[in-house]
Amino acid sequence: MRVLVTGSRGKVGSAAVRALLAAGHDVTGTDLGRHDFDRMLPGEPDYQQADLTDAGQAFAVVRGFEAVVHAGAIPEPTHNPPHVVFQNNITATFNVLEASVRWGVKIFVNVSSETVPGFFFPERPDLPDYAPVDEEHPIRPQDPYALSKAFGEQLCDAAVRRSDLRCVSLRPTHVQHAGNIERNLGAQVRDAAHLSPNLWSYVIADDLADAIVLAVESDLAGHEVFYIAAPDNVGGRDFATILHQYYGDKIELRELARPDSSGISSAKAERVLGWKAKRSWRDYLDEDGHLIQQR
Ligand SMILES: NC(=O)c1ccc[n+]([C@@H]2O[C@H](COP(=O)([O-])OP(=O)(O)OC[C@H]3O[C@@H](n4cnc5c(N)ncnc54)[C@H](O)[C@@H]3O)[C@@H](O)[C@H]2O)c1
Repeated sequence: MRVLVTGSRGKVGSAAVRALLAAGHDVTGTDLGRHDFDRMLPGEPDYQQADLTDAGQAFAVVRGFEAVVHAGAIPEPTHNPPHVVFQNNITATFNVLEASVRWGVKIFVNVSSETVPGFFFPERPDLPDYAPVDEEHPIRPQDPYALSKAFGEQLCDAAVRRSDLRCVSLRPTHVQHAGNIERNLGAQVRDAAHLSPNLWSYVIADDLADAIVLAVESDLAGHEVFYIAAPDNVGGRDFATILHQYYGDKIELRELARPDSSGISSAKAERVLGWKAKRSWRDYLDEDGHLIQQR
């Protein structure tokens, strides 16, 4: 398929470009940075520079594609003013979706976020109602990033309501690769007391990219939402024990697929998309949380 990947120079977008190329798709990337204007290397994907908050630029880059993977966004709310995060993310998603509807794109893969339910960056304390968290969990976002992602999913609902576009929203948990996994997860591997709002969950970028390829190639109708997390938790501990140890009875423990379960369930993605994580934090970190392998 002819696939456009937005945010193609970012962590998720670059992994998606690699995986889509490996799967045989005709891929173009787009991002804010300029092209280097050197001759393309064999097999190198085409690149278009665009700020997707500008509707004209969004319409120009989306034209001619069968599939759009939308990974272009500010990926969390703590390093930009709130209105910048909200405005950038929601306007870019609106424009890319609107262009996809008008240009007759077949499938739109919306890279959403585990933060949608709201307990990741809350100003007033909020915890998940139950764990592992799944797609049925209530949505109550407080911060501008989670709001932009929650509204982004609603924009997908509206797009499939008014057109033949099909949408898949993926909610990745914290995305890891060889370059960031030690500083992100190392301390938590050593000690579960380094709490994270996502209940010790993570996903390796290349596994998320596999889910993106499956979503692009899927024939799912309407708009479906999937969490994407590795099946185990950071540190590989007994989940029931650490949940009780650090949260008492504040979070209801639900049935676990495995004792060292993640705090986020990807059962729906496994069942409906046929996705399965192939990589683990253990491929990168030793039991002390130190890097063992470069990929
Ligand atoms: N990294 C994570 O742990 C994580 C977790 C869950 C969801 N996500 C989501 O995944 C997506 C990609 O995140 P990432 O981690 O790759 O972030 P990133 O910052 O590495 O990449 C995002 C890319 O989007 C581009 N971008 C931002 N605003 C743009 C605009 N207006 N027009 C065009 N391009 C724009 C940036 O230049 C950047 O290259 C985001 O939607 C993010 O919210 C990330």
